Amino acid sequence: MKILVVYDSVYGNTEKIARAIAGAVTPPDEIEVLRASEAGLLSLETANILVVGSPTHGGRPVQAIKEFLNRIPADALRNVAVTSFDTRILGQGKSVGIRMLTKVFGYAAGRISDVLKAKGGRLVTEPDGFIVEDSEGPLKKGELERAADWMKAIIAAAK
Ligand SMILES: Cc1cc2nc3c(=O)[nH]c(=O)nc-3n(C[C@H](O)[C@H](O)[C@H](O)COP(=O)(O)O)c2cc1C
Repeated sequence: MKILVVYDSVYGNTEKIARAIAGAVTPPDEIEVLRASEAGLLSLETANILVVGSPTHGGRPVQAIKEFLNRIPADALRNVAVTSFDTRILGQGKSVGIRMLTKVFGYAAGRISDVLKAKGGRLVTEPDGFIVEDSEGPLKKGELERAADWMKAIIAAAK
């Protein structure tokens, strides 16, 4: 089974989640982790599972992820199990501005999975969001472990 994780990250938190996800895969040679700007279509051709992760910016994935998704040809994910994750701030306990932002705009992960499904992918596990305490991080305690468990669930569901 070949697993491809494609991510982008501004402050490093989404990258940490991507690496935690990769760390949960054995044997390690089954997983490839690529920044979106470096992810070519060639690596997609051999992937059985594709996981795409992005920071949430204004409820959406960042530009590099949008561009990666745009590069995927129609139907190219026909035989690929797909899902997605984002990193996000929980509105709870934050300023009115941030509460409004998160409520009105929502989060990136669901939007990424919608595109992956539209390109033919089979949603294998619901998209998920991992929490940062603030825009630049850090990740909330326990999120790296939760990311590793999420990956194990994806592998089990894809079998
Ligand atoms: C321009 C900008 C817009 C953001 N918009 C949102 C948002 O709409 N919802 C949210 O939960 N977090 C938002 N955030 C916080 C990001 O989720 C957070 O910076 C990101 O998860 C950190 O991941 P990274 O370290 O990989 O960049 C925003 C951050 C920036 C810089």
